[in-house]
Amino acid sequence: MSDSVAGSRLLQGRKALVMGVVNDLSIAWGIAANLAAHGAIVGFAYQPHPKIERRCRACVGQLDPKPEFIEPCDVGKDEDIQQLMARWKEVHGRLDILVHSIAFAPATAFGVPVLKTSREDYLQALDISSYSLVALCREAAPLMQPGGSVIAMTYNASQAYFPNYNVMAVAKAALECCVRYLAAELGGGKKEDAQGVRVNAISAGPIPTMASKAVGDIDRMVEHHSAKNCLGRPVDQDEVGRTAVYLASELSSGVTGEIVYVDAGYRFIGW
Ligand SMILES: NC(=O)c1ccc[n+]([C@@H]2O[C@H](COP(=O)([O-])OP(=O)(O)OC[C@H]3O[C@@H](n4cnc5c(N)ncnc54)[C@H](O)[C@@H]3O)[C@@H](O)[C@H]2O)c1
Repeated sequence: MSDSVAGSRLLQGRKALVMGVVNDLSIAWGIAANLAAHGAIVGFAYQPHPKIERRCRACVGQLDPKPEFIEPCDVGKDEDIQQLMARWKEVHGRLDILVHSIAFAPATAFGVPVLKTSREDYLQALDISSYSLVALCREAAPLMQPGGSVIAMTYNASQAYFPNYNVMAVAKAALECCVRYLAAELGGGKKEDAQGVRVNAISAGPIPTMASKAVGDIDRMVEHHSAKNCLGRPVDQDEVGRTAVYLASELSSGVTGEIVYVDAGYRFIGW
């Protein structure tokens, strides 16, 4: 983490649940480390699988103090999500920050054009990569108070054609739309039961991680991205994490339903 921005305590005492750490390359880890550096109390949920649990625990154990809350949750299962939030309530009471840094599509969907994607693969990709945000917000909402912040992770393939992204691009487009609807619904407007919870997504440039390696061609994507973007270099997990601190904190109190790009300006360069 860059020393220039660490230690501001912008999130002192805020309680954050981060979902999607599998190892120290995970974008979720870049986010968690930055939230913790700014004073947040960070807990974790991992995908229930022995190897993933081992890796996640080894990674998040680097935090000082060590996280108290590390629980399993398959976001494809409503009962797992309900149990996770019930457990969070027991341990932490309220929830201030929810980070959704999760995506999945079956191997059979990668390298297959959208045109040839099976119904089953399509539904699974959309279920885990977008519907899960809706299901998590529904269970998290009763634990959240005005000023709460939900942050999801997206990619610009939702807006433009990227030949290797295929069904995941469709899932990201749906996720971004869910971000806007959830922002309107959880913000609450003038309703009496207004929650005042903000919902945003970060659209990151390509970063080598376990998930992006599964999409394929990640090294070529990073090279192309760096050659074309405004800064002439890749973006990294730490830069995404620092933007997450902004979205989680009062600094962004008027920002909701937005897709915030951490892509070094790649998306608007035409030539
Ligand atoms: N790496 C990139 O280039 C890039 C760019 C933009 C957006 N993103 C997005 O960032 C997010 C995090 O991905 P990453 O690149 O850090 O990869 P990653 O492999 O580190 O993280 C993906 C996480 O999703 C979790 N997951 C998958 N299925 C799950 C399930 N059923 N239940 C619970 N958890 C499940 C995995 O366990 C893993 O922790 C994803 O939404 C991804 O699409 C990544």
